Amino acid sequence: MRCNGNVKPVEIAPGAFHLPQYLSLEKQRDLLDTCRALIDGDVPGYVPTVRGGGVMHVRMLCLGRHWNGKLYQYEPSRSDFDGLAVPPLPNELREMANEMAASAGMTLDADLCIMNYYDASGRMGLHQDKDESDASLAAGRPVVSVSIGDAARFLFGGLRRRDPVDTIRLESGDAFVFGGPARLRHHGVSRIVAGTAPPALGFAGRFNLTFRQY
Ligand code: SIN
Ligand code: MN
Repeated sequence: MRCNGNVKPVEIAPGAFHLPQYLSLEKQRDLLDTCRALIDGDVPGYVPTVRGGGVMHVRMLCLGRHWNGKLYQYEPSRSDFDGLAVPPLPNELREMANEMAASAGMTLDADLCIMNYYDASGRMGLHQDKDESDASLAAGRPVVSVSIGDAARFLFGGLRRRDPVDTIRLESGDAFVFGGPARLRHHGVSRIVAGTAPPALGFAGRFNLTFRQY
């Protein structure tokens, strides 16, 4: 999948960059086709129940490594759900994510992706991404996020949960990269803005993919 390296990153905080309209409509359509095939594939997406018994408000599928929401750790097969082996991370997705990181001036060799589908009532509470390896976190290897479909109200806070939170509207085709000093900032999704996907996609809801280097 080829990407648009000409997009100008908007620095939201040191180490955090919004890349609006990184993917052309054609590339959004390709990525949407890929996401749909994967999430309804042989190893389908599912709604995780997390530690403490809460049910997530997304349908999730991991690629490359499985994130176990009961243990908050990665594993090769879905021991918290159906025991199936996690599907591989397709090379074209890995390359796309690495290029996005490079567009924000960062280095990533992505080896896993968490794909989430949000319907109109989808959301995700404020959290940190901190289950990757100590070496990856210490190096500040970025999380690369890319979104397709309806817009989302993305919350981007600080290193402490109580820190002030910015709200950023992430649209279809946007990328968001946070690494270095921003790697452990809190973030979440307060709501999906239903009916805002590009009409040409013929799609309701939102896919978000976050790529990381374990
Ligand atoms: C996440 O934090 O894992 C997802 C963020 C998003 O959906 O934009
Ligand atoms: Mn996250």
